[in-house]
Amino acid sequence: MFKKLHFVFLLLCLLQSKKFTFGKTEDSSDLPDPSQFIVWGPGLDNRVVLPVYYFFVQMVDSQGNNITSSLGPDVIKLSMESKHYSHLRISMQVLDRHDGVYIIRYKLFQTYKDLKLKLTFRDQPISTFPHLLKGCCYNEDCYCPKKSLARWLGTLNCPKSYDQIDKDFKAFRRINMTRMYKRMMVEFNKPYQMSVIHYVVKDNKLYRETLGEYVGFKMFSDAMLMSLMRKVKLPDLDFFWNLGDWPLVRRTSAHRYPMVSWCGSDDTFDFVVPSYEMTTSTLDAMYRVEKDMLSMEHYRNIDWSSKTDLAFWRGRDSSRERLKLVRLSQKQKDVVDAELTHIFFFRDEKDLKTVNSTPFFDFFKHKYQINMDGTVAAYRLSYLLAGGSLVFKQQSSYYEHFYNLLQPFVHYVPLSSDIEDLMERLQWAKDHDDEVRDFPILLWIVGI
Ligand SMILES: *[C@@H]1O[C@H](CO)[C@@H](O)[C@H](O)[C@H]1NC(C)=O
Ligand SMILES: *[C@@H]1O[C@H](CO)[C@@H](O)[C@H](O)[C@H]1NC(C)=O
Repeated sequence: MFKKLHFVFLLLCLLQSKKFTFGKTEDSSDLPDPSQFIVWGPGLDNRVVLPVYYFFVQMVDSQGNNITSSLGPDVIKLSMESKHYSHLRISMQVLDRHDGVYIIRYKLFQTYKDLKLKLTFRDQPISTFPHLLKGCCYNEDCYCPKKSLARWLGTLNCPKSYDQIDKDFKAFRRINMTRMYKRMMVEFNKPYQMSVIHYVVKDNKLYRETLGEYVGFKMFSDAMLMSLMRKVKLPDLDFFWNLGDWPLVRRTSAHRYPMVSWCGSDDTFDFVVPSYEMTTSTLDAMYRVEKDMLSMEHYRNIDWSSKTDLAFWRGRDSSRERLKLVRLSQKQKDVVDAELTHIFFFRDEKDLKTVNSTPFFDFFKHKYQINMDGTVAAYRLSYLLAGGSLVFKQQSSYYEHFYNLLQPFVHYVPLSSDIEDLMERLQWAKDHDDEVRDFPILLWIVGI
C-alpha cells in the first residue's frame, strides 16, 4: 500500500516557515508600545511539538502602526520558568528580522510541564505575556505520537495540498506495491550505481532494507521519518527512497516505479521531498547547525547600498559550467568573483586552483549570488534566496520540492544553462538597481 505520501506532507509541515509580507518602510517617531505588540506562531501552542519552537513579534507604536525597522539587537528578551523545576535546560534565541519583526525561538532539552514564557521589550512586558503553556511541553526526543493524523495536521495548520506532490502523483493512476516490490528490488539493486532503501512503517515502527553499497545517507531519511513518528502515529506505509543524487525513474523507461527522491527532474517520475540539507537544518537548528531558514532572516541585515557590485560564487567542481564560470571570473574579476573551494572531478585540468571557503553569511556582502547546479540541483538555493541578495539561477531540468513556486524575474534572474547570458543579465540588474533590490524574499518557500 502506498498511501498518498502522507509523510511528504508531514515533512513539509515540520519545516519552519511562514508567509509574510513586508510593511512599507515609513519612519514613525512614535514610541513603541509593547502592550500592543502582535504575537503569533506555533511556539505559543504546546499541542504542537517541534525540534525548535518559534514565534514572531511584530512591534507596534503608540499610534497602533507597525514598526518596520529594527530597534536594535537586545530590546526583546525571553525568559522561561516553571514552578515544578528549579533549573531548566532550554536554549533561547531572539532573531532580529530587521523589518520590525523579531523571531523568538527556544529548544527544549527535555520534556517540561507548565512552562511560563516571559517576554519583555526594554524590561516592559509584551502584550499577551507572561504566556503559560499549560500541561506537557514535549521536546524533540520524546516519543509521544498523537493518535489522530488528521487532528495533528489541523493543529499545525497545514495546507490541504501541495502543488508539487499533486503533480508527482498525477503520473500514477494507481500504485500496487505488492506487485511493484519484487520488480523494484531487482531494478534498483545496482550496488555501485544506486543507493535505495525500501522502508515499511507498520504500527508506527520503521523497518528498512537497503540496496546498494553506499547507503550512509539513510541517516537523513531515518531522522526525518523517526522525527515524524515521535510526533504522530503514521499510517502503515510501504515505499522506496532513493539516497543518491540523481532521480532514478526515467520517463522513457518501460515501468513507472514509485520512488522518493530529494531531487526531481523534468525527465523523471520521482516524487520529491525536501532535501536532507533542509530537513537536517530544521531538525538540528540551534544545536548542530548554524544555517537554517529562520537564522537566515537574522543574517539578512546587510544594507543593499553597502553591498559590493560583484556577482559571487563559491563551490566545488561538480559540473563543466561551474568551471566555465570560474574561468570567466578570471577574465572579469571586477564583475564576477567565482572560485572553486574543492577540486575532485576535474583534477586533470591544470589551470584550476582552489581558495579557502567563505563563511556563508559573508556571501551576502555582495549584491549578486549565482546558483549553479552541481551534480544535481544545488541545495543551497533556498538559503541564497533568503539571504537578501539578488539570485541568478542557472536554468536546468533539476528541481527541489519548492522550485515550482519560483518565478523568473520575480524571485530570481534566470540564466541559460550554458550561462552565456550571465554578463548581459548582470548588466540588466545593475541598470535596474532600484527594482531588483526589492525582489521579494522567499522565506515561505520551504513549506507552509
Ligand atoms: C502589522 O503587522 C502584522 C504582523 O506582521 C500584519 O498581520 C498586519 O497586517 C500589519 N498591519 C498593517 C496595517 O500593515
Ligand atoms: C496487487 O498485486 C498483487 C500481485 O500482482 C495482486 O494479487 C493484488 O490483487 C493486487 N492488488 C490490487 C488492489 O490490485
